Amino acid sequence: MEPAAVPPAPTTGKPLLDVCQGQILSRPPIWLMRQAGRYLPEYRAIRAKAPSFLDFCYDPAAASEATLQPIRRFGFDAAILFSDILVIPDALGQKVRFEQGEGPRLDPIETIEDFLKLREEIDLAVVAPVFETVERVAGVLPKSVALIGFCGAPWTVASYMIAGRGTPDQAPARLFAYRERALFQRLIDRLVSASIDYLCRQFEAGVELVQIFDSWAGVLPQSEYEAWCLAPIRAIVAGVRQRRPNAVIIGFPRGIGTRLNDFAVETGVDVLGLDSSAELAFAARLDPDLVLQGNLDPLALLAGGAALEKGVASILGELRGRPFIFNLGHGILPATPIAHVERLLTLVRG
Ligand code: CP3
Repeated sequence: MEPAAVPPAPTTGKPLLDVCQGQILSRPPIWLMRQAGRYLPEYRAIRAKAPSFLDFCYDPAAASEATLQPIRRFGFDAAILFSDILVIPDALGQKVRFEQGEGPRLDPIETIEDFLKLREEIDLAVVAPVFETVERVAGVLPKSVALIGFCGAPWTVASYMIAGRGTPDQAPARLFAYRERALFQRLIDRLVSASIDYLCRQFEAGVELVQIFDSWAGVLPQSEYEAWCLAPIRAIVAGVRQRRPNAVIIGFPRGIGTRLNDFAVETGVDVLGLDSSAELAFAARLDPDLVLQGNLDPLALLAGGAALEKGVASILGELRGRPFIFNLGHGILPATPIAHVERLLTLVRG
């Protein structure tokens, strides 16, 4: 079936922002989650010079260079600020370390006393280098490339704060939320207000849209999902829009399955990020005005060949005729060959 005729709309000069305003492009704009990172030799080279990953995130020269590297190499339609979702706990006073090859480590929040050690508000001095990174990148980014800021969603960030590390299923935070409901609510509320401040400062520094990563939304049963995923994201969207009514916000609630149906309505996000497990035929039936983003399996990109060709073809086939941003369904994997990313761009752009 032919896509419906599209009325001409004013253009921002940036395909990704045009799509966020509802335009349907014959070739979707493309960027990749974690597009700056270890699969790039030029990233590994500058990363090797930093004492630790967080030092790297807080070094505006290094972080702005990392943000720009994938734009120079591939010409993606958006740059995403190089930082991490765990700078928020770090700026709330819960010090974060990244141990070589082991992922994040924090002193876990287990008691009310641990919670009471957190600051009420984020220490803007700690994250000031992040805003400086945004300013630097905004000053030199090619005109057609959009700049994306981000934060982690409260549930996902809280799950690391409680466990003190990554876990397979975020069981420590899920248990804590059942046992210490009122205290967990206070932690989530703290993260909501910190995230609003943090995202608004990113906009002031020059980002043009933001993504909220709820990478662990999918482990929550329904009532918990409403309390810890939907309600906090809704509060962040409302809080940011109170200060910036036109803020463009992408939500990425990974693994929520059929709850994708009303996620955007429930939270107010403009763009719905689909993870790799989202069924395309189901996504294609979502509100035709809703902007979608996603959802190639990072392993299909790593594998290349038929997996890549078929994966891209089915996404483009199912989601054509609606406003759409091409992306992966989760972050790019460090072992991904550069040639496969180049092939992906050819397939998407023609
Ligand atoms: O997308 C981008 O290119 C921007 C930068 C970015 C990073 N992390 C850099 C990073 C973004 C948007 C993130 C988000 C992030 N960080 C999430 C949500 C998205 C997702 O992937 O689920 C989460 C859960 C984190 C927390 C985090 N940071 C973990 C669990 C780890 C260790 C696992 C890993 O991939 O190594 C990190 C480290 C991290 N964040 C790296 C990078 C490039 C690797 C560290 C290094 O280069 O030494």
